[in-house]
Amino acid sequence: MMAALVIQWLALASLLAGGAVSLDNGLALTPPMGWMSWERYRCNVDCTTDPYNCISEELYMEMADRLVDQGYKDLGYEFVNIDVHSRGLKLGIYGDIGTMTCGGYPGSYGHIETDAMTYAEWGVDMVKVDGCYANETVFAEGYPAMGKALNATGRPIVYSCSWPAYLKDPDYATISKTCNLWRNYDDIQDSWDSVLSIILHYAEGQDVFGNLDQQMSQMAMWAIFASPLLMSNDLWNIPEDSREILQNPEVIAVNQDKLGVQGKLVSSSTTSHPHSPKETTLYVFAKPLSTGSVAVALLNTDDQGTPRNMTVSLQEAGLKVTSARVRDLFELKDIGVFNSKVTLSVNPSGGVRLLLLTPVSP
Ligand SMILES: *[C@@H]1O[C@H](CO)[C@@H](O)[C@H](O)[C@H]1NC(C)=O
Ligand SMILES: *[C@@H]1O[C@H](CO)[C@@H](O)[C@H](O)[C@H]1NC(C)=O
Ligand SMILES: *[C@@H]1O[C@H](CO)[C@@H](O)[C@H](O)[C@H]1NC(C)=O
Repeated sequence: MMAALVIQWLALASLLAGGAVSLDNGLALTPPMGWMSWERYRCNVDCTTDPYNCISEELYMEMADRLVDQGYKDLGYEFVNIDVHSRGLKLGIYGDIGTMTCGGYPGSYGHIETDAMTYAEWGVDMVKVDGCYANETVFAEGYPAMGKALNATGRPIVYSCSWPAYLKDPDYATISKTCNLWRNYDDIQDSWDSVLSIILHYAEGQDVFGNLDQQMSQMAMWAIFASPLLMSNDLWNIPEDSREILQNPEVIAVNQDKLGVQGKLVSSSTTSHPHSPKETTLYVFAKPLSTGSVAVALLNTDDQGTPRNMTVSLQEAGLKVTSARVRDLFELKDIGVFNSKVTLSVNPSGGVRLLLLTPVSP
């Protein structure tokens, strides 16, 4: 079930706080959306004994068909991260800056230009370059060299680097000039704990799929953080309610908003239970939008409680008004006009309310 909505975790260069200028090749101005095989299928190529869990040409073709005929493509999910152009989709591929990929296949070390030219010849639209079997020197020389080589092919290719994930103190100014997006945290694993650890990494470090609540939380947080929506799931067997979450047009609109600001944690609070210490479990995130509205996520990670009332003030959400119209983006319903603050009940264990706050008075 969890695998129904695992979405790859990447941060967009164009959204880096601090105003660093990101690679400008006209690509990935909003988070890329699509499907990739990694989290769900890994490097299993044994289709003889394991036909339903292996990577094959048929798998990519089938998933590409599902993207189109189940309506994902119309909502913006356009990348398939291997030759699917005939369906109007885009092609993404995986490589490594070192001598080998993490899975032990040949890396680009020593033949960066050849690989870049090969990607362009194959018609690749996005390349994710990992950092296994490399060292800091190889990163510092290889990633910019690959960026240059891709640019020199003349084909617009979204360039996704894993560079910072391997460093203690990444030089984001250089990385952001080199790559369109990068991975700066562990690869997402198939569990809510992993999703939560990534969310908390961002919550703490700032300057999907368990139950439905947790699936909504992952989608909500990926929208708030403007993270690429690259699904890694089995599109044959996706439950209807999971699909609705992935295809929610108003949540996708928050993710794809043109202002391109990464949402932030604006407040957090603790909960306590009779037999356990106080723990920070309630988180409020806000992301300003190009429309003047603000998207707010109320996230309740308390794992032994009942639903909690959570509050966000209009001021902490970043609105300089006294009242705002509030819409619930998963329910797709307006829930009223609120003065100065909004209080709503949020389910425990990873429940979320994703709200749109629109100013109604000065
Ligand atoms: C190459 O780089 C230049 C300068 O940043 C940019 O204007 C151009 O769009 C890039 N071309 C491609 C194909 O990436
Ligand atoms: C980094 O890796 C490259 C390629 O394997 C190697 O030639 C080089 O000596 C390494 N440098 C360091 C400092 O380990
Ligand atoms: C949450 O707020 C509602 C409406 O104000 C109130 O009726 C309810 O008792 C509150 N629940 C908790 C657990 O505080």
